[in-house]
Amino acid sequence: MRTQVAIIGGGPSGLLLSQLLHLKGIDTIVLERQSREYVLCRIRAGVLEHGFAKLMREARCGERMDREGEIHDGFIIAHGGRQNRVDLHKYSGGSSVVVYGQTELTRDLYEARDRMNGVVIHHAEDVQPHDLTSATPYVTFRKGDEVQRIDCDFVIGADGFHGISRKSIPASVLREYEKVYPFGWLGVLSKTKPVSPELIYVKHERGFALCSLRSQVLSRYYIQVPLADKVEDWSDDGFWAELKRRLPQEVAERLITGPSIEKSIAPLRSFVAEPMRYGNLFLAGDAAHIVPPTGARGLNSAASDIYYLYHAMLAHYKDGDDSGLDNYSAKALARVWKAQRFSWWMTSMLHTFPDSIPYDQKLQQTDLEYLFSSEAAQSSLAENYVGLPF
Ligand code: APR
Ligand code: PHB
Repeated sequence: MRTQVAIIGGGPSGLLLSQLLHLKGIDTIVLERQSREYVLCRIRAGVLEHGFAKLMREARCGERMDREGEIHDGFIIAHGGRQNRVDLHKYSGGSSVVVYGQTELTRDLYEARDRMNGVVIHHAEDVQPHDLTSATPYVTFRKGDEVQRIDCDFVIGADGFHGISRKSIPASVLREYEKVYPFGWLGVLSKTKPVSPELIYVKHERGFALCSLRSQVLSRYYIQVPLADKVEDWSDDGFWAELKRRLPQEVAERLITGPSIEKSIAPLRSFVAEPMRYGNLFLAGDAAHIVPPTGARGLNSAASDIYYLYHAMLAHYKDGDDSGLDNYSAKALARVWKAQRFSWWMTSMLHTFPDSIPYDQKLQQTDLEYLFSSEAAQSSLAENYVGLPF
């Protein structure tokens, strides 16, 4: 087989790039290790920056997002007995975010690929990129007992944190930066009416909590838990009782509980791999960077990678201009690190750190006091949350 751009990974990053390039007549093949059903069973985040939403529309995948997604102009931070609203619309110069589940977004991308007869190969085992520093890279993979080869011009590593692409960059070239947080998030999805029309981020001495949603009949809640906790340690009743302990009383009183249709614990980590290019391999999304979910930057950081790669590939194939490809790593990392900073800041401000000293706790309180006493501070938060420019 031959294609222009071989994409490893059929998650949001790989599918969105494949769709955008195909619309411009650039040929791609997506290699996905899992089945589509498996990929679509993953429950992930739910807040899209306006830049991501715009890219989905450009990819002709935004119709259901615009119909079913919710525009959110602000969110609440509950702390120290107070509830302060962050007015995203006011402090970002009129922008907002779209609340729409990543699972639905990935479904939309798959359906768009189907409509265009895009090539997505599922159950692609033992994917391996080769000759990345040559002009003729290729990718091999196994389908059943048969090993197959795809010759290509470029390989995109959109295979997530546990993928093969980042590991294909020599250790002498790759630099990795990681920060692991001493807690995780226990998340529950329930077919209940959300407790609040806007997201509520909660700083509480018992630990962080978040009230989010996927629609007016599907709620998403999280509580910070110790790293040692296992999801089987938490009954639904235990989860709801702990969430209520952390919510402001008037919110807890109106919380509608119900059986969890998904319940899982995710550890929190910050991670960046540099460079995001090696020869004709380009890393995108979780393959190159991970953020703690507090700032809702995960999928949105992937969006700017895809935007830069999309335009770089267009310039290469349409104009013979390789400046976008040559600048990709530096340009993508510049925005990735800003998302890292914002995610670290939100996480540091809102979580209870098991080993924190009283001075740290006073700094957390001061961070919140400063935030809600300063329009400049709220503008800084808002411009990061709605999405820094691509
Ligand atoms: N070969 C082929 N496919 C692979 C391999 C491999 N060796 N390793 C992983 N994959 C697939 C995974 O099965 C997954 O479907 O690559 C895909 C990577 O998708 P994601 O992990 O969702 O990463 P990405 O597309 O960059 O999306 C980032 O997803 O994980 C969330 O929080 C993250 O919201 C962010 C978004
Ligand atoms: C979610 O709805 O899953 C969500 C929302 C905002 C976050 C993190 C997760 O910051």
